[in-house]
Amino acid sequence: MPTPLIVRKRAEMRNLILTNRASGKRIGFVPTMGSLHQGHTSLVEHATAECDDVITSIFVNPSQFGPDEDYKEYPRDLHADVHLLAQHGVRWVFAPDVQEMFPPGDSTRVEVSGPAKPYEGTLRPGHFSGVATVVLRLLQSAPAHKIYFGAKDWQQILVVRQMVRDLGVDVEVVTCPTVRDKDGLAMSSRNTYLSETDREQALTIYSSLQQAKKHWCNGIAINKIEKDLKTMLSAKKIQIEYADIVDAESLQKIPESNPSTPAIILIACRVGSTRLIDNLLLPSQTLSSC
Ligand code: PAJ
Repeated sequence: MPTPLIVRKRAEMRNLILTNRASGKRIGFVPTMGSLHQGHTSLVEHATAECDDVITSIFVNPSQFGPDEDYKEYPRDLHADVHLLAQHGVRWVFAPDVQEMFPPGDSTRVEVSGPAKPYEGTLRPGHFSGVATVVLRLLQSAPAHKIYFGAKDWQQILVVRQMVRDLGVDVEVVTCPTVRDKDGLAMSSRNTYLSETDREQALTIYSSLQQAKKHWCNGIAINKIEKDLKTMLSAKKIQIEYADIVDAESLQKIPESNPSTPAIILIACRVGSTRLIDNLLLPSQTLSSC
């Protein structure tokens, strides 16, 4: 497969996309922060299946990291990323530097609310505003027909969908399933921070999600499932930030009287010093897949 063209400037990127749109091409966009793994390439595969040409962005976005977070340490390897993307048929890699995306004197941010409020929004103040701001700017640089996100970052998808609706951004947001390692651990660029012992502990996240799903399908009360989930994680010395079952769209608590709304288990925790998030969509209790 040919090597993708690396584009550094917003105006050049926009011209390339607009020219290709004008010639009738359907464009798919996969935004990333690099350090790519099979979770990312699965998004590219969905995009190549549905579109004529695919653009991937690689940009570690400073505006979505808190002051005590891992912006500096975040793994970066553009060369390896481009090599991987070449194997998946990506046509353009948009890799701007920070000054290009946030020029000196820059002072505009997307303010987010609604689905951006609870969970990650509370624990990482400013995070979703940073995500929404960069996704909007990336879309202005690469005005694609479709933009692809992973279900691994469920709340991020809700925030992006809300922004696209509210600001009337002309793009279709596509959600792709979470890709896991063979042992069940959700793939993440931050998994490289895990020691062997950390990784062993982290496997409990997936087994606790599976156990909770089983209990959900057996009709066990939500409070009891959440309690058992937390007990299972704590037993492995995993520090829980949240482990809740909520409405998958509103992220609000599900009333015990109406457990038939689409539900999701959301987990954020620390394993050693690494912060991990994961989730599992719950099937309707009336379905045979439960
Ligand atoms: P990043 O963490 O690099 O993730 C880029 C995309 O890959 C996101 O849509 C994320 O949900 C998806 N992804 C990550 N791990 C995945 C997995 N195991 N299975 C499926 N999809 C997975 O998310 C971001 O970057 C940034 O916030 C970004 C949207 C690029 C804005 O800066």
